[in-house]
Amino acid sequence: MNHILEMLCSGDYVSGEEMSRKLNMTRAAVWKRIEALREEGWDIESGGKKGYHLDAGDRIDPVLWENGLQTYELGRQTNRYAYSLDSTNRQVKQMAIEGCAHGSLALCEEQTAGRGRLGRNWFSGPGVGLWHSLLLRPRLKPSEAPLVTFACACAMAEALEKLGVKGVCIKWPNDLILQGKKICGILNEVSCDMDQIEYLVLGVGLNVRKGAVPEALAEKAGCIEDFYDPPLRRTILSAYLLEMERIMKRIEETGFDGLEQEYRVRSCTLGRKVQVIGTQTFEGTARDMDAAGALLVEDDKGVLHRVLAGDVSVRGVMGYV
Ligand code: BTN
Repeated sequence: MNHILEMLCSGDYVSGEEMSRKLNMTRAAVWKRIEALREEGWDIESGGKKGYHLDAGDRIDPVLWENGLQTYELGRQTNRYAYSLDSTNRQVKQMAIEGCAHGSLALCEEQTAGRGRLGRNWFSGPGVGLWHSLLLRPRLKPSEAPLVTFACACAMAEALEKLGVKGVCIKWPNDLILQGKKICGILNEVSCDMDQIEYLVLGVGLNVRKGAVPEALAEKAGCIEDFYDPPLRRTILSAYLLEMERIMKRIEETGFDGLEQEYRVRSCTLGRKVQVIGTQTFEGTARDMDAAGALLVEDDKGVLHRVLAGDVSVRGVMGYV
């Protein structure tokens, strides 16, 4: 059945005759399979002599994007798609335990128990966001795991920029901000022993369309569609996977050095007045980052604090950013 979808997913018309020849089946069998796909909800139009045409809209089923990927590994292993999942991070953790390879991925239209950083919930309504998680087995030390989150933020910002969504910046450690609103969050969960990372689950929630952000969060959060005509979610995913693969390769070779310049250019935290909220809450100026990616915040008495991602929430003093 998927072979028919693969042939149709370019969006061009494909004749029944071409399908029956390439798939080595009768025209009647092709027709029967097209009917079955329509019953599954695929919008396939018959254009007379021109053949069949698929309007895939903004669907994210792997059959629509797997074959067009330009990556070597990411998205090229086990890809699990379901309309509804509790959490793609939880799903990928399960896949890691089952032994799935580096680069495997889970994605869905809606999450019923999406999780955010610091134990928060992540609202993940149907069809309005790109809710997905990657399984990574990087050649990095456990202490280097936060770098993967920075890499992810840079990769998504870069991918969006290449697709015309300009002006995305990174609020330390890894929120993507568009015009002052959070449009994307990253949840990096690591399983490791003393010396090495066993696997890492990199969950990304990107608010794409209106409806992605609940009313109560509208002051702080937004979606791409608030500012741009959004690219298709599967186009964003493919572009992100390619950028992520490139950046991961660099950090595996050179650590934070391979990323620092890019991260700094995109940062909208460095140089700003911030409030650090954690076991200790204080205000100061985000002066710099160290080689491990910790934020160095100078308080009003001139004391420099080393702030680690995962422990705290950092807010702009003049607003969310
Ligand atoms: C944050 O708090 O900013 C991080 C949010 C991460 C949400 C994504 S959506 C896909 C993946 N699955 C989850 O349960 N969470 C992450």
